[in-house]
Amino acid sequence: MSLPNMVIWFFLLLGVSVVTVRVLGQPSTDGFISIDCGIPDGYTYTDDNTSIPYVSDGQFIDTGTSYNISASYLDDTLPRQRTTLRSFPTGARNCYTLRPVMQDGKYLIRATFTYGNYDGLHRARPDNPILFDLYIGVNLWKSINISNASFTYSTEVMTIASAEFISVCLINNGSGTPFISSLELRPLENTMYRAVNDSYSLVLYSRLNLGTTTDKTVRFPDDGYDRVWRPCRNEPDWSEVSTTSRVRNYPKDVFEAPSAVMQTAVIPANSSSLNFYWDIEDGDPASEYYVILHISELQNLTGNKMRQFDVYGIERMSPPNPHSPLYLVSDSIFGNTLETGYSRYNVSLDATTDSTLPPILNAREIYAIRPLSNVTTDIRDVDAIMAIKVQYQVKKNWMGDPCSPKDYAWDGVSCDASMIVAINLSSSGLTGVIGSSFARLKAIEYLDLSYNNLTGPIPDFLADLSSLQVLNLTGNHFNGTIPDALRSKKDKGLLVLSIDPCIDENPCPSKKNKKKITAPIIVILSVVGVVLLLVLMFIAWRLRQRVPGMTPGASARLGSEDCSGQKMDFESYPLQFESRQFTYMQLVNMTDDFVRVIGKGGFGMVYHGCSENGTEVAVKMLSESSSQGAKEFLAEAQNLTRIHHRNLVSLVGYCKDGNYLALVYEYMRRGNLRENLNGVSELGGTLSWRKRLQIALDAAQGLEYLHKGCKPPIIHRDVKTSNILLGEDLEAKIADFGLARAFHSDAHTHVSTLRVVGTPGYIDPEFHNSFQQNEKSDVYGYGVVLLELITGQPPLLPPGPETVHIAQRVASKLARGNIDDIVDARLQGEYDANSVWKVVELAMKCTAQASTQRPTMSDVVMQLKESLALVNEGIDVSQDGAFEIPGKGSVTAGPTAR
Ligand SMILES: *[C@@H]1O[C@H](CO)[C@@H](O)[C@H](O)[C@H]1NC(C)=O
Ligand SMILES: *[C@@H]1O[C@H](CO)[C@@H](O)[C@H](O)[C@H]1NC(C)=O
Ligand SMILES: *[C@@H]1O[C@H](CO)[C@@H](O)[C@H](O)[C@H]1NC(C)=O
Ligand SMILES: *[C@@H]1O[C@H](CO)[C@@H](O)[C@H](O)[C@H]1NC(C)=O
Ligand SMILES: *[C@@H]1O[C@H](CO)[C@@H](O)[C@H](O)[C@H]1NC(C)=O
Ligand SMILES: *[C@@H]1O[C@H](CO)[C@@H](O)[C@H](O)[C@H]1NC(C)=O
Ligand SMILES: *[C@@H]1O[C@H](CO)[C@@H](O)[C@H](O)[C@H]1NC(C)=O
Ligand SMILES: *[C@@H]1O[C@H](CO)[C@@H](O)[C@H](O)[C@H]1NC(C)=O
Ligand SMILES: *[C@@H]1O[C@H](CO)[C@@H](O)[C@H](O)[C@H]1NC(C)=O
Repeated sequence: MSLPNMVIWFFLLLGVSVVTVRVLGQPSTDGFISIDCGIPDGYTYTDDNTSIPYVSDGQFIDTGTSYNISASYLDDTLPRQRTTLRSFPTGARNCYTLRPVMQDGKYLIRATFTYGNYDGLHRARPDNPILFDLYIGVNLWKSINISNASFTYSTEVMTIASAEFISVCLINNGSGTPFISSLELRPLENTMYRAVNDSYSLVLYSRLNLGTTTDKTVRFPDDGYDRVWRPCRNEPDWSEVSTTSRVRNYPKDVFEAPSAVMQTAVIPANSSSLNFYWDIEDGDPASEYYVILHISELQNLTGNKMRQFDVYGIERMSPPNPHSPLYLVSDSIFGNTLETGYSRYNVSLDATTDSTLPPILNAREIYAIRPLSNVTTDIRDVDAIMAIKVQYQVKKNWMGDPCSPKDYAWDGVSCDASMIVAINLSSSGLTGVIGSSFARLKAIEYLDLSYNNLTGPIPDFLADLSSLQVLNLTGNHFNGTIPDALRSKKDKGLLVLSIDPCIDENPCPSKKNKKKITAPIIVILSVVGVVLLLVLMFIAWRLRQRVPGMTPGASARLGSEDCSGQKMDFESYPLQFESRQFTYMQLVNMTDDFVRVIGKGGFGMVYHGCSENGTEVAVKMLSESSSQGAKEFLAEAQNLTRIHHRNLVSLVGYCKDGNYLALVYEYMRRGNLRENLNGVSELGGTLSWRKRLQIALDAAQGLEYLHKGCKPPIIHRDVKTSNILLGEDLEAKIADFGLARAFHSDAHTHVSTLRVVGTPGYIDPEFHNSFQQNEKSDVYGYGVVLLELITGQPPLLPPGPETVHIAQRVASKLARGNIDDIVDARLQGEYDANSVWKVVELAMKCTAQASTQRPTMSDVVMQLKESLALVNEGIDVSQDGAFEIPGKGSVTAGPTAR
């Protein structure tokens, strides 16, 4: 194998750009994009004259209509590309997307236009031209003026690809329907045509092969870059010179003029000066041109013959005067035109006095310099939206630059500066999953994907879009649940999230769960259920016998020896809440593999789940560090499942499966009281004073039951607003009771060597001396909760060492005697002052330093009922605050009131 061949193979094997190979070896069409516009979609052919393969334009554009030129304009000499075209009767801007290209690569792009009366309208006459604009991306390439129906107009530009594609856009400015016959893209070496860079492109004015006696155009394969060198009409005072020898290029020639062009040249016939000129094109905004003169000596000069000349009319010329062309070696003189202020430019080549021969010129190129001054959309956004367009086959006017110019911005896409900030793809027939490209739109604020046919999960990455404020996913077929991060953003009020109710509100579709229940489980459950029902009915019956004087409607404890069951409501506890031991696999099924986190408690993460019968549950996984003594846990968990009260969160079941420990609770839809006070609940808005009182009473009753209803009493040990959960109708229940007995605390809670739980701000001041907790410790924590309900503030403010406890803050305000200062400003003065005074007094008693001065929970319940009665007398129920539930307004004065 010869050395050059080996080099070629080396590059081929490396997969290096074939451009490199072309330089080393044979000209190749690799990297060319050659589009014959208007031929049938998917059709390809190889051009007879150039051997360049052409393809149809279907894959590069979505819009426009294909046409043949009219038969009367067809003739056999007409190159095939000129016989068909694509016309764009609709849309102000229609763009071809040329890909693949290399970002930052340098390319030559050529477009041709042959009207040929394709539309039968006999336009394209000098008195009725077709005028439209051609753009590369957002920058003008050329204004096209078609005024001859049989002529083929052609224009070429050299430019840098700013992305992995290049947009060629035809813009209709109301003077005729834009159309195009062919579009060709050719890669150039980045070292070539140095005037082409990120700020400027070059638009061809003329590229002429001088001294040729044929009318043959030189292009590929003679020119490996497929530049078109047109034969130049000879001036009468010029004479031709030529050679049959090959004219070589310098190794690092920046223009690589082909030998076929360099082999002919002109010299002045009878003078020592060669002149030419050109005029600014009509309507051409360019006032500066880039000129390249290609020279080579074609005669073997012997003796004292010498050819030397100076060039005038080119500024910043390289190389500088004088010039002496080398024999059979291609050389170039290039630079910008001088600013003349006239519409005509003159260049002259004048022999120096030392020269014995006249100047010589083999070829010349003239380009208009085009600034790329219009701002394009941020390239990352362009890439992302292009990927979205491709993924969903979006057929809108999604062509060219998404944002700019504003007049042609994409339908449903809005931009701020050069970033995409809004996308509306509602009802756009999108199918499949939400693609990761959306995650790359860093500035997006508004995303509407509603009413499409999107499926699959709602991806987590949507929560990473930091600017996203509105997300509409309604009317699709997503499965799974809303990612926790997204839900949390919504809950914090950072995101307006619209989604189908079956995902948002009812994540337990019964269909799905039915499938999961296998027949044996159903049988077992039914048997267990019937047996349990019988047992419970028997116990209830026995208790009614044993406890005389029980009020009708009240009912029995569920087999617990701990609690008296005095305040239990048997009817309100259907069998679904009967305690069960779950396996870990059952938990996995219930929580859909722990996909939705709804909280992080003192003992571990809490997940949303659905039990087999479709009831929503909260699954609290216990972190390993907190699982001390599995035996103890089991005993305690079984105990806890027996404790039932309207104001206690029910333990549905538990799991002890290998190392996995978990508690399964009833699900409380509205989250915890702290979140609701912060106004970040799902409803938003503010809890009214009356609702706060009702919540306070509910919570107090739950605690009272633990203290009085259970024997021995259950000390909660961690009473706080985040352990009070709210249900659908804002009924409050105490959570996490009894856990202190079962577990050590972990990082979230106050840690001591004793088995203590508690949260800073809620801890009984006496505890620091006695290290003991009793019912009065819970009363202290409850007092803090009351103060939070009144003020809306957290217990410790401000965070840090300067913190002041809520009891002190309220006490110092009380000293000034102004209740308005104390009450949560979010209530906007909407409260019954008498009841507030009463509750503030009660809260201050509960938070007394000495436990002996604190009331019992039974006292608290009594006082609160009185306060609530005051409110119910004073306020028209129908006008109460934002959280009032219709029809429930009188509940507070009902069974729980005296
Ligand atoms: C163009 O002409 C070809 C061959 O005559 C024909 O097959 C094709 O359908 C025509 N295309 C259009 C758009 O009229
Ligand atoms: C091929 O080239 C010759 C000479 O330039 C020209 O006359 C002819 O029209 C071309 N044919 C095609 C099909 O392009
Ligand atoms: C920039 O865009 C505007 C609006 O389309 C156009 O008028 C102008 O010619 C463009 N400028 C350049 C340098 O292309
Ligand atoms: C279009 O070209 C024709 C013929 O060259 C010329 O007469 C006419 O002025 C041009 N129109 C524009 C708007 O440039
Ligand atoms: C139109 O172009 C053809 C060449 O394609 C030329 O022969 C003819 O003279 C032109 N007509 C006019 C009016 O310029
Ligand atoms: C040029 O001519 C001289 C003498 O006539 C000859 O020796 C030399 O080889 C020629 N050079 C080339 C490159 O042909
Ligand atoms: C939506 O997708 C489903 C399943 O892929 C398909 O059955 C249904 O026809 C699609 N509907 C529309 C309007 O595309
Ligand atoms: C959700 O949809 C995706 C894609 O359609 C599918 O692969 C997956 O199995 C579905 N998951 C569930 C739980 O239905
Ligand atoms: C999608 O939701 C947003 C916010 O809720 C709303 O502004 C928009 O109109 C909705 N889109 C449709 C098509 O309903």
